[in-house]
Amino acid sequence: MLSTKIEKSLNNQIKIEAESSQIYLAMASWAEVQGLSGVATFMYVQSDEERDHELKLVRYINERGGHAKISALVAPSIEFGSFKEMFKTLLEHEIFVSQSINKLVDITLKEKDYATHNFLQWYVAEQIEEEAQARTILDKINLIGNDKGGLYLFDNDIKQFTTNKP
Ligand code: FEO
Repeated sequence: MLSTKIEKSLNNQIKIEAESSQIYLAMASWAEVQGLSGVATFMYVQSDEERDHELKLVRYINERGGHAKISALVAPSIEFGSFKEMFKTLLEHEIFVSQSINKLVDITLKEKDYATHNFLQWYVAEQIEEEAQARTILDKINLIGNDKGGLYLFDNDIKQFTTNKP
């Protein structure tokens, strides 16, 4: 059985993951409209992954005798100055998600909920991967600068990030 505090904190994380999914869906749509089909594909996959992160939490809470509550979400930004700005936003958002997961892990230790602590380890590992990926992509973008040919290659290249995922 989950404590009230853990249940509330996990429900808050559901909202964060759902909002992440919406944020990346908005990015996918923006990229598609800009003609960046590779970036759009990457963002659509990211959005789906966030929905999986959300579902995993929903199932876990209910499995442990709690009630996963689906709430209203904050609307995402739908315009991005440039694709570089967009990926900066993505990295900042992932850092925010990591901090939220870390706080959750901290609460499980305080509450001595070792099962939830164990469950959250998957998220800890996932966040390391997602932050590293966002940093790698930003490094590539910085290398390209304003080179149009480079952007074309980057748009093609980024599809690999989605197909190389386990
Ligand atoms: Fe589920 Fe990318 O945080």
